[in-house]
Amino acid sequence: MRRDDQIAEVRKLLAHLDRRTTAWADGIYRNPITDYTCPNQAARERDLFFRKGVINVGLSCLLPRPGDWMTHDYTGVPILLVRRQDGTLGAFLNVCRHRGARVAEGSGSGERDFRCPYHGWCYGLDGALIARPDERSFAAADRSTHGLRPLPVAEKYGMIWVSPSPETHFDVDDLLAGLEIDLAAYRLDTYHHYETRVLRRRMNWKLAVDTFGESYHLQHLHPNTVDPLFYSNRCTFDPFGLNHRMIIARKNFDELRDLPEAEWDLFDHTAIICVLFPNTVFTFQRDHVETWHMFPGDEVDETVMYVSLYIPEPVDNPKAKEHWDRNFNLLMATVEMEDFPTCEGMQRGFASGAQDAIIFGRNEPALQHYHKSIRTALAETVAAE
Ligand code: FES
Ligand SMILES: [Fe+2]
Repeated sequence: MRRDDQIAEVRKLLAHLDRRTTAWADGIYRNPITDYTCPNQAARERDLFFRKGVINVGLSCLLPRPGDWMTHDYTGVPILLVRRQDGTLGAFLNVCRHRGARVAEGSGSGERDFRCPYHGWCYGLDGALIARPDERSFAAADRSTHGLRPLPVAEKYGMIWVSPSPETHFDVDDLLAGLEIDLAAYRLDTYHHYETRVLRRRMNWKLAVDTFGESYHLQHLHPNTVDPLFYSNRCTFDPFGLNHRMIIARKNFDELRDLPEAEWDLFDHTAIICVLFPNTVFTFQRDHVETWHMFPGDEVDETVMYVSLYIPEPVDNPKAKEHWDRNFNLLMATVEMEDFPTCEGMQRGFASGAQDAIIFGRNEPALQHYHKSIRTALAETVAAE
């Protein structure tokens, strides 16, 4: 974030604290229950966002060195990401061109090539088919046209994006719509991956995103975990195309009142939440970054998500490990014991017929923006069909 933007955000938050206000939308917004329950909408989301769309994978440090690789199956499409010898990133369908077996499983490092476990066809880090046993039997299928099928991939601002569809073209800055100025300033390319955990819950994937869409609930749902650290219902909101940013004041925010403007440190006194449309949440917490990537499960009321912790320095001693484990465990305890059980209860309530819509208040502008963005994106595809 630019320095003058930081100052502006500090001023906004100080004003909210003084006036006991928060960022406001123009009015309330009634979000239809079908947004979370309709199998037809779920099918369109899957096709538009998770099949033909572009997804953020995480930070570049997931694959720091040439020969590092990882598989990614959360979109429903088998994807293989590889750091090639020249340091650039490659993405491929993880599908052998012989008879379609998965070429790689899990993740690893120091790889020079990928050998399909079924019959041994061998692919280079650039996806080219290098060799295959009993070459004579396949001479009619030219090796040069039977490399792994490449996928569009981009790496910018220390983050990785990929599309599960070979035909999709995209530009990262177009997707970020101005948020890149913020993201570039975080120097995410200098971070280190600490840990990733995978969660499966009985709720629509957008409910998982909604968890991070307002600070109104903090004092009620998190009295012993988050509430002691952050002000409830005191935050900023700024849209960036379909994405948005919220800044939540920490309880130490009032310290800034006694400091000259030149010494204001926004990062040390807030949590900054950036939602990258449609399914990714970045939370910048002082000295570390937490990322959430939500994906639809098999049913409309299922989510599969992964949460990652990224840290500024590699861990090289037990004390540091203990520190980051404690951080991660607190985060997980909060969401697993408090947020997500609530969301699962909501999901069951949606099916009860109690109401046709839920309400996003004027104090929940990020939720309004997010769900209007979902609607806009879905409407555009319907119009284009
Ligand atoms: S399916 Fe991969 S070598 Fe046969
Ligand atoms: Fe929460």
